[in-house]
Amino acid sequence: MRVTVSRKAHFNAAHRLYRKDWSHEKNDAIFGKCNNPNFHGHNYELIVSVTGEIDPETGYVIDMKVLKDLIKSEIEDAFDHKNFNLEVPEFAELNPTAENIVVVIYDKLRSKIKTEMDLEITLFETPRNFVTYSG
Ligand code: NI
Repeated sequence: MRVTVSRKAHFNAAHRLYRKDWSHEKNDAIFGKCNNPNFHGHNYELIVSVTGEIDPETGYVIDMKVLKDLIKSEIEDAFDHKNFNLEVPEFAELNPTAENIVVVIYDKLRSKIKTEMDLEITLFETPRNFVTYSG
């Protein structure tokens, strides 16, 4: 029996969406308010879902404490109260859109979770706007 277990997490972070190789006018046209040169913040909400077989001994797919600690060390400690553009190395040359952030989160966690388990990440940038990535 394969079961999906999910854990919610959250972090606050700032970003600016723009491309250095585009004019200010083009950045404004494509990214609008998100191109504010003074940055702006979001309250990001995260759902990490792991799907796998139930371990017959423990009855767990993955120990929630292990998952919680993994999200804290890999994601919250790296992103919370940070400026994506200036302080998170993965975004030095990568636009910190929700799409790119969800892929970076997936990649950071994927390497820490057993390969026989499936991983899916949903990232809410606002209560109404969210993206999902599962590799
Ligand atoms: Ni934004």
